[in-house]
Amino acid sequence: MIILGIETSCDETSAALLDDETIIADEIYTQDIHSRYGGVVPEIASRAHLQKVGPLCRSVLDKGNMSVDKIDHLAVTDSPGLAGALLVGISYAQGIHIRHKIPVTGINHLEGHIQSIFLEHPSLSYPFLSLIISGGHTAIYRVDDFGSYYCLGETIDDAAGEAFDKVGTMLGFSYPAGRSIEQEANRAGEKKAVRFPVARLSTPGFDFSFSGLKTAVRNYLKGKDHEFIENHKDVICKGFQDAVIKSLVNQLSAASEQTGISRIVVAGGVACNGTLRKAIISRFGSTVFFPSPRFCTDNAAMIARAGLMRAKRNMVRYPRMAPSGGIGKVIQEISGNSKE
Ligand code: KG4
Ligand code: ZN
Repeated sequence: MIILGIETSCDETSAALLDDETIIADEIYTQDIHSRYGGVVPEIASRAHLQKVGPLCRSVLDKGNMSVDKIDHLAVTDSPGLAGALLVGISYAQGIHIRHKIPVTGINHLEGHIQSIFLEHPSLSYPFLSLIISGGHTAIYRVDDFGSYYCLGETIDDAAGEAFDKVGTMLGFSYPAGRSIEQEANRAGEKKAVRFPVARLSTPGFDFSFSGLKTAVRNYLKGKDHEFIENHKDVICKGFQDAVIKSLVNQLSAASEQTGISRIVVAGGVACNGTLRKAIISRFGSTVFFPSPRFCTDNAAMIARAGLMRAKRNMVRYPRMAPSGGIGKVIQEISGNSKE
């Protein structure tokens, strides 16, 4: 089955062509323009998607030496994300659907991140715990099967990636700052890190909080002159990164102990972080799986992969824009099994 996946939920425009489990071609365009504004500007994102979505779809078809008529199914991110950005991808997919009579399914972006692991580990078995750590989301899901996602905990304020980006802005890094903070922290080597607090929540379950940590960094920087900050940037970044990693590993460990599930899948942009990868591997060993960095950050291959599963299991649903649609909604939609 040939699937064309389209992803435009935030600041990556992406298209991917899959032939069942094989990636024929994939393209990701990262909208660097947002770095000059310190964050994603929704209207600029929508306009950039408008310019790029067509050429990227064309490009994956050309690379696969394939015409539109050979596509068996379309898959497009329809929730959650920026409204205008989602609308561009959905409208484009609907255009192809109507013009070429190719069936189309909407995909929840978080389901895409969860399914991204199967791009490179197609025979991974269920159940597993999925830690999604990105710029917009931080949550742990118990995944019992394709389409069965139970949220065990999520952030009550900032997402992990958002904390990296906001602390990065305080330290003068451009957006998105996750990678720069990791590189700066690596420069500290064995130097003692600045100690920042790790949130302990009183809520039941496995929630996260990163806004206190962000405030702690801001308070630490208050009154420090430019020269001091420049000279201590490495140990500040190391301390901040350590606190984020501790919080993630603590909650993941607790969730694993409570559920008895030791197979762990980590996805989302923050999963690119090498120090985090080492920390999770040293806690869980060979039962932890990460996608390659290309498939951790937003990409259409993961959307196409989720679309493939929906098409094969007759779980197709017509795209419906839902900017704040959580994954809980996906569970309801599956039971509804809605088709156009
Ligand atoms: O999954 P993603 O591409 O987009 C969302 O769905 O949000 O994740 C982007 C996030 C950004 O916040 C970025 O700073 C973070 O992932 N990120 C990292 C690293 N690479 C990207 N955070 C920490 N360490 C990294 N190496
Ligand atoms: Zn994402």
